Amino acid sequence: MFAAAKGSPGVTTTVAALAGSWPAHREALVVEADGSGGDLVVRLCPASEDAPGVHSEPTTVHLAAAARGGLSDRVLLEHLQRLPGSGEIRALVAPPSPFSAATALNSLVDAGLAECLSSLGSRDVLVDVGRLDPGSAELELVRTVGQVVLVVRPCVSSVIHTRELAAGLHDLEVEVSLMVLGEKPYPPAEVAAAIGVPSLVGVMADDPIGAAGFEGNSGRPRAWARSRLVRSAAMIADRLAPPPPPPPPATDGEEMVSRSAGNLSDESPSGVTAATSTGGER
Ligand SMILES: Nc1ncnc2c1ncn2[C@@H]1O[C@H](COP(=O)(O)OP(=O)(O)OP(=O)(O)O)[C@@H](O)[C@H]1O
Ligand SMILES: [Mg+2]
Repeated sequence: MFAAAKGSPGVTTTVAALAGSWPAHREALVVEADGSGGDLVVRLCPASEDAPGVHSEPTTVHLAAAARGGLSDRVLLEHLQRLPGSGEIRALVAPPSPFSAATALNSLVDAGLAECLSSLGSRDVLVDVGRLDPGSAELELVRTVGQVVLVVRPCVSSVIHTRELAAGLHDLEVEVSLMVLGEKPYPPAEVAAAIGVPSLVGVMADDPIGAAGFEGNSGRPRAWARSRLVRSAAMIADRLAPPPPPPPPATDGEEMVSRSAGNLSDESPSGVTAATSTGGER
């Protein structure tokens, strides 16, 4: 769960960058649980009718209607769209209208969205909760899940609003950690200390040019993919994602080969060690 205090520090951009950089051995799903209205439909709409992109449906509104008889992981998975770009992450998107998005989110939270998200098995769900306000469905979702990463800018106003929000979440027994966006003018460790939250999950690059590649300028997907922002997201995603499964045990034949390779290198001080990659590649 990724959220923020007031000020729009970059939650949606952070979630999109992390999901797009998620290690290949895991499937990342994005859920736009922002009752202020979704951004993915707006920013990633297709350039032409048959081009890849995010369409105006299905959204959380369609899922909420389908979930009247009960929200299950099957129904949720039927309402995902593919985000354009390499990796083609799937996402549950919110409609741009705050009225529709808030109504849909309220009914999904009542239908058990939190429980449903935690039953999605081997998939890693990145939830963009947006701004957390008291009494909101977003706050109820975060409270039920019990943990959230607050995205914060290293400036005085963002730090103070985040500090107050973190204190309120602490009272609700929500486990809070931080994602800091940039290192100036205050270093991330100082930001975390000022907010009173020691757990720092990562530091995203403050990269306005890279972020602009995700602002609906469909001609700039390459700038986005190569940006400092996405490179910093990739390092954080590697740490956040569960590690790859261990390689299968060597078969008898492979064991013989590796034993004889071991013998060879024993005999030859200049023997070359052959390393075999067993996963973790993108
Ligand atoms: N890492 C970054 N470096 C520089 N600019 C960024 C970064 N991330 C986001 N931005 C910029 O910050 C602005 C807000 O970004 P974004 O929409 O992701 O924020 P948000 O917190 O989701 O806002 P909202 O509350 O409206 O949903 C955008 O102009 C975006 O380009
Ligand atoms: Mg947002």
